[in-house]
Amino acid sequence: MISTTTPPHTTKDDWWRSAVVYQVYVRSFADSDGDGVGDLQGIRQRLPYLRDLGVDALWLTPFYTSPMIDGGYDVADYRDVDPMFGTLADFDAMIADAHTLGLRIIVDLVPNHTSSAHRWFTAALAAGPGSPERARYLFADGQGPHGELPPNDWESIFGGPAWTRVADGQWYLHLFDPAQPDLNWRHPEVRAEFEDVLRFWLDRGVDGFRVDVAHGMIKADGLPDVGFSTITTGQRQVELLGKGRLPYFDQDEVHEIYRAWRPILDSYPGGRMAVAEAWAETPQRLARYVGPDELHQAFSFDFLDATWTADSFRKVIDTALTESTVVGAPTTWVLSNHDKQRHVTRYGDGVEGLRRARAASLLMLALPGSAYLYQGEELGLPEVLDLPDELRQDPAFLRTGESRDGCRVPLPWSGDLAPYGFGPAGSEASWLPTPATWRALSVDAQSGVPGSTLELYRATLRIRRDHPALAVDAGGVTWLESGPDVLAFSRTAGETVLTCVVNLSGAPVLIDGYGQPLVASDTLTEQGSGHLLPVDAAAWLERR
Ligand code: GLC
Repeated sequence: MISTTTPPHTTKDDWWRSAVVYQVYVRSFADSDGDGVGDLQGIRQRLPYLRDLGVDALWLTPFYTSPMIDGGYDVADYRDVDPMFGTLADFDAMIADAHTLGLRIIVDLVPNHTSSAHRWFTAALAAGPGSPERARYLFADGQGPHGELPPNDWESIFGGPAWTRVADGQWYLHLFDPAQPDLNWRHPEVRAEFEDVLRFWLDRGVDGFRVDVAHGMIKADGLPDVGFSTITTGQRQVELLGKGRLPYFDQDEVHEIYRAWRPILDSYPGGRMAVAEAWAETPQRLARYVGPDELHQAFSFDFLDATWTADSFRKVIDTALTESTVVGAPTTWVLSNHDKQRHVTRYGDGVEGLRRARAASLLMLALPGSAYLYQGEELGLPEVLDLPDELRQDPAFLRTGESRDGCRVPLPWSGDLAPYGFGPAGSEASWLPTPATWRALSVDAQSGVPGSTLELYRATLRIRRDHPALAVDAGGVTWLESGPDVLAFSRTAGETVLTCVVNLSGAPVLIDGYGQPLVASDTLTEQGSGHLLPVDAAAWLERR
């Protein structure tokens, strides 16, 4: 393993503004006890790897007590660790080690819904219609002469109706799986409970929260119909996500919740932060989640959704940067996460997809703001497209045929036998099988190999950390005149100019006049006083 002596990126309270955050999908990162499932001790053992990679913080997906219907996004106890992942003591030991290594820890907070196994929901079922226990959730009577139809036309994000009927005839709302009943965020006990959950983890030392479905907690008054559904038009309501308004998402009142959370975060020392997983109709509405009295960041999913063209990237970058200027908080970039097809595959898969993914990473990491990496992207992992159906666990799979399992396959660390060092020798089979082709993509297989994706990430993150022009308060993006389908922009600190060039065209381009190459996603060949940048490649160059 390569060791760096670089100190933690920043000890300042606004560390998150430029942080590179590594998303750990806990189930699939590292398995310390050989049961085929990743765990907190596994993360703890691999912290030096993440420190050496050069990230500033980790975001851990939910590791709380859960029946694991939706991979832990169905939380039964917000203040405990599921035995599958370890114990609270393991968490404490892990965060202590992380902090010693200069790594911060962000945990996932799932406030929109609980698990149906949560004590509140079992109490609600037992207590019956009209009870105070039911008031914490969204129970309603059905339509039709006998209440046999759902209260409205809302659809679950995972397919099918968003309502399930219980034995006494009432229905309850679940925007996701029936095992994830939505909470009633107009109920003071719900608000008080989550403020307490925030404090519970802040007291344990977490540096921040990733807020799950941050746009979802408030539903429009009266629960009005959307007006169309898959049954009536063939169009799923979820297709409006990020494009239109739905009565169950992005309601103005949701911002009151964050205005109540912010003083809690601010009351702790060391710069505690929160990042929103929010989907809104426009970038302007997304930006409303971010600001000095709300959350610190919101993922720019438009960047993730951009297609492989210069126009597409430039448009989303410009819009996101403009919006972040308006709200005074840097943009939060992301290319992959546990819900989306890995970007190697989105950009075409195979050799082409990998080339583009590597170039896109250089693009992302040169932009002002914070960047979130998804575990395994530093290895160039593709989506696993051929998982056997019977092994798929995503609850959406049965209802829609769409499955997010292919981006959740356990990481390959070392060795010649699957699952390639994910667990100790002699472990049980990993919860999803690792493809044989990943042997060559393991951490050990790529470490020290010039040109490997892992070494590209290590080199890029090292430069990003040290380079004055990439510092958060350095100059913004200046677009440069470049050929068609070529993106070129510079960032400046004093006399030093760093230029990032991405070739999205079908032919190599000559890059000249930008100075010395610092890092490139593919081999540059010298030509005259400049260099040829291959197709689907990116480079950072420096002029002083
Ligand atoms: C978020 C999570 C996703 C989960 C859903 C329901 O979108 O990222 O994995 O299924 O919320 O909690």
